[in-house]
Amino acid sequence: MSGVEPVGGSGGGASGAPSELEDMLERARGALANAHAPYSRFRIGACVRAASGRLYAGCNVENASFPVTQCAENTAIGAMVAAGDRQIVEVVIVTEGAEPCPPCGRCRQQLTEFAGPDVRIHLCGPEGVRVTATLGELLPMAFGPRTLTRPT
Ligand code: THU
Repeated sequence: MSGVEPVGGSGGGASGAPSELEDMLERARGALANAHAPYSRFRIGACVRAASGRLYAGCNVENASFPVTQCAENTAIGAMVAAGDRQIVEVVIVTEGAEPCPPCGRCRQQLTEFAGPDVRIHLCGPEGVRVTATLGELLPMAFGPRTLTRPT
């Protein structure tokens, strides 16, 4: 896959224990199974792990008015914010397609609001992790909360 290279085993940011990653995968797979994707038939499940340790899962929610569609990452982030968490430390995205599915540009921007550049994003298939990249690799020179500092 062009543009997204696997990151090494260390130095790419906080990553949970293998069992935590397995929990995240399970939650994301569960969300995928509930995806509402009758138009694209492309089901996606996502799970974000907050600094608190809590996991939040989401799926894509399509709409007959196509642009109204909500991405899986967006759903998971919304659940996290509604529950009171604000810091994402790891992300799992699961699809059933042949290729690893990187988050769309809008989702990268949404992740940037709550995750630092070293946060690992695991692109997974039903069998498990296919590619891992950091948010900084996926969205370099991001416009983020810190960009909005005003002159004093
Ligand atoms: N989709 C996501 O859920 N996340 C992404 O990052 C990319 C796209 C969904 C939206 C739509 O329901 C389907 O995938 C096909 O675009």
